[in-house]
Amino acid sequence: MDNMEQLVAAAAAEFALAAEPAKLEEAKARYLGKDGSLTALLKGLGKLPPEERKIAGAAINAAKIKVENALTARREELRRAQLEAQLAAEALDVTLPGRGQTRGTLHPVIRSLERIEQLFRSIGFEVADGPEIETDWHNFTALNTPANHPARSMHDTFYLLDESGKVQQDVLLRTHTSPVQVRHMLAHVAKYKHLDVMPEIRVIAPGRVYRVDSDATHSPMFHQVEGLWVGENVSFADLKGVVADFLRRFFESDDLKVRFRPSFFPFTEPSAEIDVAFMSGAMEGRWLEIAGCGMVHPNVLRFGGIDPEKYTGFAFGMGPDRLTMLRYGINDLRLFFDGDLRFLSQFQ
Ligand code: DAH
Repeated sequence: MDNMEQLVAAAAAEFALAAEPAKLEEAKARYLGKDGSLTALLKGLGKLPPEERKIAGAAINAAKIKVENALTARREELRRAQLEAQLAAEALDVTLPGRGQTRGTLHPVIRSLERIEQLFRSIGFEVADGPEIETDWHNFTALNTPANHPARSMHDTFYLLDESGKVQQDVLLRTHTSPVQVRHMLAHVAKYKHLDVMPEIRVIAPGRVYRVDSDATHSPMFHQVEGLWVGENVSFADLKGVVADFLRRFFESDDLKVRFRPSFFPFTEPSAEIDVAFMSGAMEGRWLEIAGCGMVHPNVLRFGGIDPEKYTGFAFGMGPDRLTMLRYGINDLRLFFDGDLRFLSQFQ
């Protein structure tokens, strides 16, 4: 019987020494496996005389149960140790300081648009918007640019397909923000039709516009800000004053030069292009075109429901992308729309 106790003790000691499951299974085989010592003892029982066989059998079985229990206990110990090691390795220290959240920044063009809105609001303009998918009528016809007018060819744009895949004739991606002029005049007239005297229209309309154009200074999608002032006796002098004052405030430069150069737009008469020149810095003395403008054409006032005998107005359309490039000294328009954070995050 001492033998049995020794055997159980030896097995338990070997199990305890096995530091990992594979080693434990090897140790188990030495006792309980096919060629294990306990298995051999059980096999040898048959050779014993019957009375000894009974006693020896009981002793071996009791030992076998003890060895099995020791094995199960060790297996459980190893499983728990492994779990603890894994938990320790994957531990999260919730008390560590965070890596810090970086704040997003406004896109430089959006910063300019906000600045433009703020400056125009300060002289009594409202801010309006209109749809980017525009009707042919608002985008062209009502702006005195009837079908087949040659000015349409300068505004090649993106058209939309209907469900059968055919190009829709009457809608397009707007090529400029000028259609908001017409929408705003119609809405304004409807809103104040109960009054004898129409309140003045003073509005800007910033937004995205589209053209089939792409190079360092042109993008198929870009921004414009439309301006419109309609009232009694609104003159070209008012246009010059409003625009020149705005530009000096926008660029924070009192000696900015502003020039109005005769031009043509179907929706204004007379029409001009607006150029600016800086008196210092890299762009010193160079004239740069930043907007188109003019006195609203009588036909456009009529399409907007306004009597051109009673009211006059001026309009302008400027490129905030271009203004932003000048303000920050950026030489490629495409940088605005590439989405490169190294560029965008500089405008904190
Ligand atoms: N819509 C013109 C363009 O995209 C810009 C423009 C010129 C707007 C003259 C105006 C204007 O309101 O009066 O080229």
